[in-house]
Amino acid sequence: MVNKELRVRKIRNGTVIDHIPAGRSLAVLRILGIRGMEGLVVAIVMNVESKKLGKKDIVKIEERILSREEVDKIALIAPTATINIIKDYKVVKKYRVSLPDEIIGLIKCINPTCISNKPNEPIRPIFTVISRNPPKLQCIYCGTYINYDDIILQLAGNL
Ligand code: CTP
Ligand code: ZN
Repeated sequence: MVNKELRVRKIRNGTVIDHIPAGRSLAVLRILGIRGMEGLVVAIVMNVESKKLGKKDIVKIEERILSREEVDKIALIAPTATINIIKDYKVVKKYRVSLPDEIIGLIKCINPTCISNKPNEPIRPIFTVISRNPPKLQCIYCGTYINYDDIILQLAGNL
């Protein structure tokens, strides 16, 4: 883009998570288990202008690729995010995160008496995706709704 000032420099190899809803980059890092002490080179950009979103966050992680499960978790709290894989300074792959119609195993039902929470019952939690942005899920076993606050608490803890 012409005349667009770079806030943080381009990376040589790694992953850029772009178009994160403004303010959610720290939650994304929590989901990835990145707290700083593991020594990865990470750049966080918060609340910058975006044509599509108004404001957005960006996370650049050098020398790190994301697993499918990590991307699915990010989709739950940042459904607009795009994942850019960078190799030798070039974007070699770009895709938008996407949530399947059913979420299996990523989060737990918040109803303590749900069959998926019985300690001796080998039943994986499964949720139907009711809406994506903001996220709303429904447990297929007990019908309990799971909203954004429940999801963020489970995936990122108290930020
Ligand atoms: N990026 C980076 N290092 C690189 C290449 C790209 O940090 N070596 C970052 C860019 O700063 C941008 C994102 O990766 O935040 C995607 O890059 P690019 O596709 O070149 O930008 P846009 O065309 O603006 O992306 P989009 O169309 O997805 O908005
Ligand atoms: Zn349930």
